[in-house]
Amino acid sequence: MRIAVCGSIATDHLMTYQGRFADSLVPDQLAKISVSFLVDDLQVRRGGIAANISFGMARLGHHPVLVGAVGEDFDSYRSWLERHGVDCDHVHVSEMRHTARFVCTTDEDMAQIASFYAGAMSEARDIELGPIVAAVGGVDLVLVSADDPQAMLRHSTECRTRQIPFAADVSQQLAVMDGASIRTLVDGATYLFTNEYEAHLTEQKTGWSAEEILDRVGTRIITRGRDGASVLRRGEDPIEVPIATDVQRVDPTGVGDAFRAGFLAGLAWDLPLERCAQLGSTLASYVLETVGTQEYTFDNAHFLDRFGQAYGAEAAAEVATHLG
Ligand SMILES: Nc1ncnc2c1ncn2[C@@H]1O[C@H](COP(=O)(O)OP(=O)(O)OP(=O)(O)O)[C@@H](O)[C@H]1O
Ligand SMILES: [Mg+2]
Repeated sequence: MRIAVCGSIATDHLMTYQGRFADSLVPDQLAKISVSFLVDDLQVRRGGIAANISFGMARLGHHPVLVGAVGEDFDSYRSWLERHGVDCDHVHVSEMRHTARFVCTTDEDMAQIASFYAGAMSEARDIELGPIVAAVGGVDLVLVSADDPQAMLRHSTECRTRQIPFAADVSQQLAVMDGASIRTLVDGATYLFTNEYEAHLTEQKTGWSAEEILDRVGTRIITRGRDGASVLRRGEDPIEVPIATDVQRVDPTGVGDAFRAGFLAGLAWDLPLERCAQLGSTLASYVLETVGTQEYTFDNAHFLDRFGQAYGAEAAAEVATHLG
């Protein structure tokens, strides 16, 4: 099963300032503000939802097709993703704009000054899935995750028109999109991913009840942080999957993406939904234990051992036949 992952591709530039921003601000002169903070630490982290999810799937041995828009500065990030098994051949490279970038400086009080430059991401709306699907010889599922909102609408509409099954993952774009747009993204999706808060927000903004949403999507997956995840299907008992065991919580950034990566890896192996959610939870635990969203490493034996501890030897044996 071949999966295309559409969504944002970005880097985070994180700096720390050994002082207090407040000490350099003159409240009655803010209209003429001009300050520069000398920072002594810069971390550049690879991120973006689609890149994180593709990376996670590739770590489990898949070769997902990454779909998104970047700038000419993408070369080293491309090389990293390709080296880990992500197909970047169809990423759109802008001639005008840089790759999306989040720049944030944190001071010693944890106060933050940040900017997000969407840049090339806005060109994702120019991407047509048809030629990509043809070039890779067919795609069985398209994940439409957070991206330029117009691109998200275009991708899900194109999937419906071309009758390509798609999974909807609106996540942070739920906050900015209106009800009609969210209905377009969700309606007819084979899978709908949200966390618990986003599940309520989806219901509120679309005006559809939980039952109506289940009528419109095949399978609904709701992640609940440390309370695990639920997999819901119309007329079936919910599948409740607890978190993996002995997880150290170091940096929660990217757990949702890793969960999706594991889940989609399970789908691509044709495993049952419960196994997919267990794979998601296990992969999420590695991200939770490392700083950054693509910095985790594991070998298959460790992964399977961890999986078995949480979900039993039989479930682990089922996964082992696929995992290298
Ligand atoms: N504290 C935790 N310990 C172990 N596993 C966790 C923990 N928090 C989250 N997870 C795993 O990650 C999955 C996704 O978490 P969560 O519901 O918090 O996603 P999210 O809110 O979309 O996160 P984000 O958008 O910040 O990446 C959970 O279903 C669970 O499997
Ligand atoms: Mg999330």
